[in-house]
Amino acid sequence: MSSDPGNPVVSAKASQDHYDRLAATYDENWVHSPAFIEWMTAQIQRRLQITSTQLAADIGCGTGLFARGLAQHAAAVVCAEPSRAMLAQLPIGERLIPVNASAEDLATGRVTLPHGRYDAILLKEVLHHVEDRAAVIGGLARLLRPGGRMLVVMLPTRISYPLFSAALTLFSARQPDPADVAAEMRAAGLAAQVSYDGFPLTFPAGRYLQMVRNRYMSLLSGFDDAQLEAGVAEIRRAHPEDSLTFTDTFAFVLGTAA
Ligand SMILES: C[S@@+](CC[C@H](N)C(=O)[O-])C[C@H]1O[C@@H](n2cnc3c(N)ncnc32)[C@H](O)[C@@H]1O
Repeated sequence: MSSDPGNPVVSAKASQDHYDRLAATYDENWVHSPAFIEWMTAQIQRRLQITSTQLAADIGCGTGLFARGLAQHAAAVVCAEPSRAMLAQLPIGERLIPVNASAEDLATGRVTLPHGRYDAILLKEVLHHVEDRAAVIGGLARLLRPGGRMLVVMLPTRISYPLFSAALTLFSARQPDPADVAAEMRAAGLAAQVSYDGFPLTFPAGRYLQMVRNRYMSLLSGFDDAQLEAGVAEIRRAHPEDSLTFTDTFAFVLGTAA
């Protein structure tokens, strides 16, 4: 499931504080089941096609949940992350190279990565933290070797989570459109395409409703307790069944350098 569903662009400092606090328990989060990590890593590798002599960079890598799997296919994965606490969770390994930097630092050249050019760049659930997306995509595209690939993994503008309608509407209003990200890649000189794939999830209804009450998505913090209770009742009316099954669909925006 998404690592951070529905989080709007917040200030860089607020975002860093948020992830610094989250770091110690990030990997234990219920959304990161081994089956999901394996599925998502395969989805990423299917698109990036990293081979054993190639260099990859995972920008906003967090704790390296996906860099770990990608490193098995690559010569090395440079893991860039602005939160030192998240980066500190990265396993020590000669093929995982930590760099304390934001996407903006790398795109503008304020921080230089250890290898000049890359065969593959991954940005998974990171771009919603970036204010000037087009500039960041443009700057990172310049780090690609000829034939290099940039993959942005993000939620689509519409999600099929069993939420109440006001929450789904708010999500759609805030979430960047993968088609716009593809357009920004094209403006940066990459050939871009968008594809979608989904991971099936099932929760006991009581557990999922409690997650909603606990505001498991940062999006839900926009609703007060009474609105949330009304939302839970709306979900219950629409889904009286004992367990809730839905597909967590992701957009994969792949850009390729000439
Ligand atoms: C939802 S987490 C995703 C982490 C990892 N990519 C994953 O999928 O597990 C978002 C990550 O982006 C990082 N981040 C926030 N702002 C960023 C920026 N401007 N540039 C790069 N990374 C950023 C956060 O510190 C956090 O680790």
